[in-house]
Amino acid sequence: MPSNDIKGTTALVTGASRGFGRGIAAALSGAGAAVVGVARDGAALADLRAELGESFTPVSADAADPTVAGQLIDAYRPGILVLNAGAAPLSRPLQQHTWETFSRNWDTDVKQAFHWLREALLAPLAPGSTVIAMSSGAALRGSPLSGGYAGAKATIRFITSYAAAESERGGLGVRFISVLPQLTPATGLGAAAVAAYAAREGMDVAAYLERSGPALTPGQAGEAFVALAADPGHAGAYLLTAAGLSPVP
Ligand SMILES: NC(=O)c1ccc[n+]([C@@H]2O[C@H](COP(=O)([O-])OP(=O)(O)OC[C@H]3O[C@@H](n4cnc5c(N)ncnc54)[C@H](OP(=O)(O)O)[C@@H]3O)[C@@H](O)[C@H]2O)c1
Repeated sequence: MPSNDIKGTTALVTGASRGFGRGIAAALSGAGAAVVGVARDGAALADLRAELGESFTPVSADAADPTVAGQLIDAYRPGILVLNAGAAPLSRPLQQHTWETFSRNWDTDVKQAFHWLREALLAPLAPGSTVIAMSSGAALRGSPLSGGYAGAKATIRFITSYAAAESERGGLGVRFISVLPQLTPATGLGAAAVAAYAAREGMDVAAYLERSGPALTPGQAGEAFVALAADPGHAGAYLLTAAGLSPVP
């Protein structure tokens, strides 16, 4: 099977400071990429730099800012672009949301995806480049305690597929893929959601997790993203669980 050589490629990962993004940045670095990690918390990025060494470049910035997207695409021209940054939704039932809390993931996650997908197409990134956007399993079945989260993540999947179609129409040779991870307690965002859903069902967290099966880890997410970037045969959308990737029809 043909494969893209990740060694020596520049990879840019948004939301690299914690959770899945940190696991993805570490895995890409381990595969030989020069990784640029974007997040707002400079101290957490400095910590990752200490772990990964000189091949990791920390950038403290708001990934949802359109100027940041334009500047960093121009500066780094990444061969692998991972749009992972996401806000933690407020875990409450619908009637306890305000419009501001309901739309939080539109203002961060969707806004980020929109700006960076546009910039990737406009640049355009070099043929053979791969853009992977973080959607969620919630995009398929909803998330009744997370306000507009599931709709925001479904929109990310849609606009990533629109970008793939534009790449195809323009003969750009840039792949656009979306990944829909299962809910996991292994990140800050996921742990808060798991606690809220367990409480809603009157279960303790341990019993809820036992019912949910093996938990997806940031390390497994990192391996999956490396596999997607390395194999030019991957396209479309993928569910991601502890058992690995499976295409979403
Ligand atoms: N965990 C799950 O169960 C789960 C399931 C499905 C999908 N997802 C998705 O996976 C992605 C990562 O989630 P996670 O669970 O790893 O969450 P997390 O541990 O809370 O990490 C979120 C990351 O996003 C960054 N971030 C948030 N807003 C940002 C902004 N405006 N600009 C730059 N960086 C920003 C955070 O860094 P700073 O705060 O330092 O900026 C942090 O590095 C999200 O898109 C999430 O929706 C998670």
